[in-house]
Amino acid sequence: MTAIRSKISGTGMYVPGRVVTNDELAQRMDTSDEWIRQRSGIAERRHVDGSETPVDLAEHASRRALEAADVGPDEIDAIVLATLSPQHEFPGTSFFLHHRLGVPEIPCFDLRAQCSGFLYSLAAADGFIRSGQMRRVLVVGCEVHSTGLEFTTRGRDTAVLFGDGAGAVVLEANDDPSDRAGLLALRMHAQGEHGKRLWLEAPGSSFYPSRITHEMLDAGLHFPRMEGRFVFKHAVTRMPEVLREALDAAGVKQDDVDHFLFHQANLRINEFVAHSLGIPPEKCPSNIERYGNCSAASIPMLLDEIVRAGRVERGQLLALTAFGSGFTWATAIVRW
Ligand code: UT7
Repeated sequence: MTAIRSKISGTGMYVPGRVVTNDELAQRMDTSDEWIRQRSGIAERRHVDGSETPVDLAEHASRRALEAADVGPDEIDAIVLATLSPQHEFPGTSFFLHHRLGVPEIPCFDLRAQCSGFLYSLAAADGFIRSGQMRRVLVVGCEVHSTGLEFTTRGRDTAVLFGDGAGAVVLEANDDPSDRAGLLALRMHAQGEHGKRLWLEAPGSSFYPSRITHEMLDAGLHFPRMEGRFVFKHAVTRMPEVLREALDAAGVKQDDVDHFLFHQANLRINEFVAHSLGIPPEKCPSNIERYGNCSAASIPMLLDEIVRAGRVERGQLLALTAFGSGFTWATAIVRW
């Protein structure tokens, strides 16, 4: 009997229409196009304009992935949605997507592993499929960051980095021995001791007697805070580590990988990682220049872009690597 593997059978992405340039941000805080480009590689990002919420972004990306997979919403067995910016604190975003797609009473849940959330979600979906419990899982990464950032000089270190967007894939059982496509290996890690190095403190149920007060709002505890250099140093160490570990687990040589999709947090991080491993830049597609850091959505957005551009051929190998708050980091090795 052939073991069941999972493969990606369709991809989709969506970003809101409003383009926010570095120059526009420079009118609202003490920053500059030059600083942002030089430190992060970002030229512009997308922000919602009040007419769309996370579920709208997730729905567009999901419908495109379902269409690409030639699968109807009634043919999926679960929805796993990664986000750090849920539609509402609970139940999150996935349940509203469930309703929008009009799926039957299949399970769905939000998964919180920040910028590594899409890869963690892929691992969960892969487990459901390989256990034989499910045939098709919709895996989504969706973020609306722009309504949670501080667009003043106090918040400039994070406000310039993040953007809004959604990406989705259909992960599907592959039990055809003649079809080599599949998720070959996925490795994940976390280091909780650094949970406060990149975090959003409030509202939080650790506060007593209220999760949020006027004082907390005045202090800006509801905006993300980051120790940028500390995060940078850990990202450039952990990403190569987990990439090597996943390549070993898949029995694949680094040189055999055709496309390295790194989380789009900072172009400098990805250039550093690629350089340290001797990976040629042409194997590292990027869209951070146009979208900024879309956390859990970044990798599936980038994947969809290169697939639709015809850059990924059947049989090619992809390595998807992320690092984010938590800290969390992960790599998936995929044969297309
Ligand atoms: O997605 C999750 C993972 N997140 C990341 O991977 C982000 C990792 N970190 C980074 O990418 C970088 O640390 C940043 C791009 C965030 C910052 O670059 P940096 O070279 O590490 O700058 P820095 O934080 O050391 O700040 C340098 C200076 C500071 O001023 P002083 O103290 O030297 O006077 C900052 O206040 O730049 C200042 N600064 C800014 N200046 C203009 C911080 N943000 C800005 C800004 N515009 N937006």
